[in-house]
Amino acid sequence: MKNIDCPLASEIVIFGALGDLSRRKLLPSLYQLELAGLLSDDTRIIGVARNKMTLDEFTKLIEESLNEFIKEALDAETVKKFLAKLLYQELDFKDIKAYSHLAKTLTSAQAARVYYFSTPPAIYGDISQGLQSAKLINDADRVVMEKPIGNCLETSKVINDQVSRYFKEQQIYRIDHYLGKETVLNLLVLRFANTLFTNNWDRNCIDHVQITVAESVGIEGRWGFYDEAGQMRDMVQNHLLQVLSLLAMEPPAELSADSVRDEKLKVIKALKPITRQNVKDKTVRGQYADGYLNGVAVPGYLNEEGANENSSTETFVAIKAEIDNWRWAGVPFYLRTGKRMPQKHSEIVVHFKQQAHNIFSESYADLPSNKLTIRLQPDEGVELDMMNKIPGIASQMQIHENKLDLSFSQAYDNQRVVDAYERLLLEVIKGDQSLFVRRDEVEAAWVWADSIIEAWQSTNEEPKPYPAGSWGPVSSIALIARDDRQWVE
Ligand code: BG6
Repeated sequence: MKNIDCPLASEIVIFGALGDLSRRKLLPSLYQLELAGLLSDDTRIIGVARNKMTLDEFTKLIEESLNEFIKEALDAETVKKFLAKLLYQELDFKDIKAYSHLAKTLTSAQAARVYYFSTPPAIYGDISQGLQSAKLINDADRVVMEKPIGNCLETSKVINDQVSRYFKEQQIYRIDHYLGKETVLNLLVLRFANTLFTNNWDRNCIDHVQITVAESVGIEGRWGFYDEAGQMRDMVQNHLLQVLSLLAMEPPAELSADSVRDEKLKVIKALKPITRQNVKDKTVRGQYADGYLNGVAVPGYLNEEGANENSSTETFVAIKAEIDNWRWAGVPFYLRTGKRMPQKHSEIVVHFKQQAHNIFSESYADLPSNKLTIRLQPDEGVELDMMNKIPGIASQMQIHENKLDLSFSQAYDNQRVVDAYERLLLEVIKGDQSLFVRRDEVEAAWVWADSIIEAWQSTNEEPKPYPAGSWGPVSSIALIARDDRQWVE
């Protein structure tokens, strides 16, 4: 990605530093950047939270988090160097006057800062106002906002308006961690560095596309939060639409942040609206019931700890999405995502069109079409299903479907897969917005998602139960079978 002319940030301020995301992802990722020599000596990491705590206590807690959440053995020297970068500031986020204490902790008035909002979005506005009142916002500073940004178009506008009173759009980095995943980024290379695909990537050659993002986990103690959102807001509005837009966008003229984001936006805007007239045909809502995962009994959504047994929140969504433009007219994109599915498994399968004419009908009556599978996680890689002649001297030509398999772990010698947050934090420090979502993208995604949610509400579309450990409700099979197709399992 192109480097923007922007100073490297050297103070990273994490609001909500004691929270799960910060301990599980942000601080371990910063440790990895330290290990890779990517943090400058003068970088400071300032943890901000409500709790009264000494710097020693904070440091000890972060050391425990590194031990708990980093799989590989820690490097003692790097840990020492990293922990020495930490500072801690207790702060009541809503007390505007208290930000003057933070001002004293922030060491260098010259340093470009990264403010990471890892708090509930409802207080992003308060934090921004507090920073402004303590004169802590300079033009070179950046603010990182975690999703969910609102739970519909209207509420997302309120949050974005609040923050943009104090920060310009060029300073705002909206995280969608899927954009930091190695395999999601590889979509750009696959499409735009391989003539084979660049020139066959449209309605003339592609029959349909399937995108599956399956998780085996359930709600993991987040019932209250998740029940307000559901799978549509938690996964489809952001992660799936970002993957879809990278997959379907026109080639950007260059790799700069706005060229890529302009093209992604056009895809999201071209999505055919799903309304109460067609919602039953085009979507499936599901909710997991009691079931088994790897032979172990697991509770259904309504039997999870803290559950309200009348909830009709969906934990599974399947959608037939259509993009109304020249490239994709008539090519459906089937999206499917859910909790408590048989395994953690995310992939894109691009089904090419069948050969127009079959000269091998004696050995293969119905020639299968080529399939390109992009394995997003785990076992990252790219796989192409092709037809091949079976070696031998049989009088008839014997042919058979086989795979070209590019497994990243084999091809790149088991190189460690960089966590999405490591990459994204580095991009913020460098000041490059390419992998972050622009406000108009978030809003266009809400327009499409809101219409589906409203259609479900106005048609009283209750979620269909599916046993935990299965691939979703049977109606998801019917959704694609109506078009004479089936999910790749
Ligand atoms: C988060 C969602 O954004 O993404 C979670 O809030 C989900 O519900 C997670 O589990 C999935 O991320 P990944 O990287 O594990 O696929």
